[in-house]
Amino acid sequence: MLEIIEELAALRARVAEWKRLGLRVGFVPTMGNLHAGHFSLVRLARRHADRVVVSVFVNPTQFGPNEDYARYPRTPVEDAAGLDGAGCDALWMPSVETMYPFGAEQAVRIRVPGITDVLDGAHRPGHFDGVATVVARLFNQVQPDVAAFGRKDYQQLAVIRFLVRDLAMPIELLAGETMREPDGLAMSSRNQYLDAGERAIAPELHRTLQAMRDAVDAGTGVQRAEADAAARLRSAGFDVDYAALRRADLSGVGDERATPGAYVALVAARLGRTRLIDNLAFDID
Ligand code: PAF
Repeated sequence: MLEIIEELAALRARVAEWKRLGLRVGFVPTMGNLHAGHFSLVRLARRHADRVVVSVFVNPTQFGPNEDYARYPRTPVEDAAGLDGAGCDALWMPSVETMYPFGAEQAVRIRVPGITDVLDGAHRPGHFDGVATVVARLFNQVQPDVAAFGRKDYQQLAVIRFLVRDLAMPIELLAGETMREPDGLAMSSRNQYLDAGERAIAPELHRTLQAMRDAVDAGTGVQRAEADAAARLRSAGFDVDYAALRRADLSGVGDERATPGAYVALVAARLGRTRLIDNLAFDID
């Protein structure tokens, strides 16, 4: 039976009780409007923990001034019903005042250097500072033993991994596979912003990533593969922020043919007012 918790003291008491009983606590942070991708993270956490907490908090500090904070879909009733069915024990729903007791402007902020300056970090200045800041707070509030994040937010996962290692947080991180619609579109709460025409175009993101992987695997130069991917997306109707090939650790590859190793192709592009991201990790033998 799902317990909905809105006060920090109640959350701490519940988690302390579980820990007294020797139970391992799993955690899935979300911004709500939950879909099958989130529920698969809950099941993943469940496999590694005795109790699972999911947070729903639309975090103002990770949205830019012209982004979708105000219109981000908030569906608490549906979220609670879905979590109940997915095996979640506690739904943590802090208010903005609980998360940022001195206000967002006065908040202690965490900045992960390096990897936050590229790709999404370059296109959404301050975004990953907001993510690292809220995730550190959520970790302090929930005190999980294990936490699950989706691979769809590839760069976010890299940021959280760095955060946890650098601050020596005693938390095991789990990475959940990207869940896709039958036509390949990665599941995202933002998909519902798409009108019918945009929704029909959106799976081209995944197809472009596959084409990029195949081109690089077949020996096409990296710069050429990136340019071709961006051109393909533009001709489908996207406004492209980036189409990039990186090593799996997000370091640059250079302009030549990719040598054997682990890679990831990443795209971020807009259809109308909706910004979508996706990625595809692969090996070159
Ligand atoms: O991936 C998300 O939904 C958010 O960035 C997160 C990790 C919940 C932090 O607000």
